[in-house]
Amino acid sequence: MYAVQGNNSIIRMFHVSKWYGKMVALSDVTLNVCQNEFIFVTGPSGAGKSTMIKLLYMGETVSSGSILVDGMNLARISKKQIPMLRRKFGVIFQDFKLIPTKTVFQNVSLVLEVAGFKPKEIYPLVMDVLERVGIEDRSEEFPPVLSGGEKQRVAIARAMVGTPKIVLADEPTGSLDPDSAAHIFQLLRSVHERGATVIIATHDQQMINNHHGRVVRLVKGRMA
Ligand SMILES: Nc1ncnc2c1ncn2[C@@H]1O[C@H](COP(=O)(O)OP(=O)(O)O)[C@@H](O)[C@H]1O
Ligand SMILES: [Mg+2]
Repeated sequence: MYAVQGNNSIIRMFHVSKWYGKMVALSDVTLNVCQNEFIFVTGPSGAGKSTMIKLLYMGETVSSGSILVDGMNLARISKKQIPMLRRKFGVIFQDFKLIPTKTVFQNVSLVLEVAGFKPKEIYPLVMDVLERVGIEDRSEEFPPVLSGGEKQRVAIARAMVGTPKIVLADEPTGSLDPDSAAHIFQLLRSVHERGATVIIATHDQQMINNHHGRVVRLVKGRMA
């Protein structure tokens, strides 16, 4: 397995294509991501950025080609192993995907419950990330009463808790004002500094210009 995976790569996409019916969303993408890299996936709307993110955590499955994540071949893993794969990821979804009927605290703690953490361990871990994103004073609120920026912070707290190896973010600053966007970006940096591999899908060219990171550009599903 190590020979296939290479030195310190954590993700390998090999000639990956994804189509929906006749619609080609991703076409022949080969990409090697090293541990603790910071990567922007960019390109115009419809280029395949979200599709690439979804394929990595198996929100979708490839049509052809193969993907290795931290030594796991996604084509070979059984249904039972999917939770183990998912635990490697923290994912920040474009539309947040917060559960409206659960509090901020519960939205974040759920990740640790599913991952099998003990109740005693959960409280301090959740409060620590809520403090880091600056939303600990709203921990008992429900998502519908939060602003867009606050929801985004909760989404990031949820992606950070349990220190996943890889953090995926799909347009994390998409709907935010510049100050909130800068703060979100800072948080993603801190996740990276703590050792995570970070992959951000964004069409925000200014964000890319202002920050260090490898840029992977997609155009019509192909690497440009
Ligand atoms: N579930 C789906 N069913 C059909 N077409 C899809 C689906 N998801 C994405 N697509 C199409 O695949 C292409 C790439 O989409 P996407 O990955 O969302 O691009 P991006 O995130 O770069 O805007 C688009 O043309 C989009 O319409
Ligand atoms: Mg998208």
